[in-house]
Parts: sequence; C-alpha cells; structure tokens
Amino acid sequence: MNFEGRRVLVTGAAHGIGTCIVQNFAAAGAVVAATDILADKVAALQNDRPEGQTGRIVSRAMDVADEAGVEAAVGALQDELGGIDTLIHVAGGTLGQVHAPVEEVRLEDWDPIFNVNLRGAFLVARCLVPGMKARGFGRIILLSSGAGLGVSMTGIQAYAAAKAGQVGFVRQLGHELGPYGITVNAVAPGFLLTNPGSDLQWASYGEDGQKQVIQQIPRRRLGKPEDIAHATMFFASDLADWITCQVLSVSGGQAKA
Ligand SMILES: NC(=O)c1ccc[n+]([C@@H]2O[C@H](COP(=O)([O-])OP(=O)(O)OC[C@H]3O[C@@H](n4cnc5c(N)ncnc54)[C@H](O)[C@@H]3O)[C@@H](O)[C@H]2O)c1
Repeated sequence: MNFEGRRVLVTGAAHGIGTCIVQNFAAAGAVVAATDILADKVAALQNDRPEGQTGRIVSRAMDVADEAGVEAAVGALQDELGGIDTLIHVAGGTLGQVHAPVEEVRLEDWDPIFNVNLRGAFLVARCLVPGMKARGFGRIILLSSGAGLGVSMTGIQAYAAAKAGQVGFVRQLGHELGPYGITVNAVAPGFLLTNPGSDLQWASYGEDGQKQVIQQIPRRRLGKPEDIAHATMFFASDLADWITCQVLSVSGGQAKA
C-alpha cells in the first residue's frame, strides 16, 4: 500500500502494536505523528529509520486523557504537518491492572482505563475533525478489542466496558461524519503478546491453558502486531472508502464468548 502524501497521527505509539503501526505507515510513505505518554520512548521512534522507509516519523509526548494537553499537542502537530487526515487511536489497554471482583473495584481503578481507551479517543478525534471536514477527507480508526465484543479474558470490567464503548462511539461518529468524507472504524484484536502485562497474563494460563487458548483459535496461533497494523492500513486506504461504522475482528477467527 502506498500512503505517500498521507499524514497519520498514532496515539499509544511507544509500544507493541502502536510502534508497529507507526513503522508500517512510515514504510508505506506516510508522514506519521507518533504520540505517547512515554516521552522518551516515543521520541526514540523519530530517529529510527528502517531501510526502505519512504515516509517520515515525528514524535511528541501526549497524554490522551488530558484535554488541554491533547488540544495543544494535536494543534501543534497539525500546524507542523499542514493538517492530519488519519487518526489511529491505539493508546489504551488495561494499564497493568488485573481482575478483581466488582465489589472491590475502586473508582481510581475504573476511571484511568475509561480515560485512556474511550475519553482519549473522543478528545483526539474532536481536535482532528474540523480539519478533516474542511478537507472533505478523513480516516478515524480505533483499536478496540475482542473484549469489547464478548467477554474479556482479562476479567477487567472497566476494560470490557470501555472497549465496547469504543464500538458505540465508532458507530455514532461514522454516522455523523460520513457526509464529510470521513470514515470511522475499529479493529478488534484477539490476544497478542505485546507487553509485560500480556506476557504475565499468558504465563498465568500455564502450559495446558495456553494450548487450550490456541486450540480455540481457528488459525491456531496468537496474533502479531503486524496482523493488527495491516488491518488498520486497510481501513486507512482508499480501498475502504465505502466502509464506515464497522468493527473488524482480527483474531484468527476466535469466536466471541
Ligand atoms: N495486546 C493485546 O492482546 C490486545 C488485544 C486487544 C486489544 N488491544 C488493544 O490494542 C491497543 C495497544 O495494545 P498493546 O498491547 O500494544 O498495549 P501497550 O500497553 O503495549 O501499549 C499501549 C500504549 O499506550 C500508551 N498509553 C497508556 N496510557 C496513555 C495515555 N494516557 N496517553 C497516551 N498514551 C498512553 C502506553 O504508554 C503504551 O505505549 C490497546 O488499546 C489495547 O487495548 C491489545
């Protein structure tokens, strides 16, 4: 795919799936604004220029849950790049939390998960939509999860609820923005080993549990960041111009609980 001339903002770019998305778009010619709350890690991406990469990466620290910070960072990036036409909201996840019975979940556990996954998607999209409308073109893609379509393997209520909330946001926003040439979709990954949290979760299943998980995936393997990056590239491409308000499960065919 060729994304020359495209300006893509990726949130949550400093790790696993986000980094892979940044690199894939940059390799396909896009100018990519890589953002993350982890300032040093995301800054390092800017200097990493794999062979054959035709695009460019600029990086900036941004906490997607901080309204003023998002407005400042997105505004500066739009000025620097002359606009942004594609958003891929990757920032999210379980923030290192583990399952607790609902009666023990504190608001201090619940809110941060909602803030990064759902409020962040709203704040960043809200900043970018006026420019997209003015240009009559835009692509908004959220990283939801199988957890938003069925029961979450993590057991974390706020995570399942926020990921399902992203699906509602995508449907509603796609409906609102379609007339302006802006599509809004979500990719819902199955389980991937991308960070210490998912490594721990995987280890906790033990050998037999891991075999069982693989057995429930028709493709008989866990996902890789590239599997997810490729799905976002499809939604971002011109090939997907008539696809909006949709959620694509990228999970090796794993059935939802
Ligand atoms: N790994 C999986 O198995 C899996 C499965 C389904 C969905 N997902 C979703 O895919 C996305 C990426 O997953 P991952 O496994 O690469 O996660 P990750 O934890 O490795 O990366 C998430 C990134 O978001 C950043 N982040 C956290 N809070 C932030 C904030 N407030 N502002 C800006 N950035 C912030 C983190 O620093 C990190 O770089 C998440 O939304 C996750 O929910 C992952």
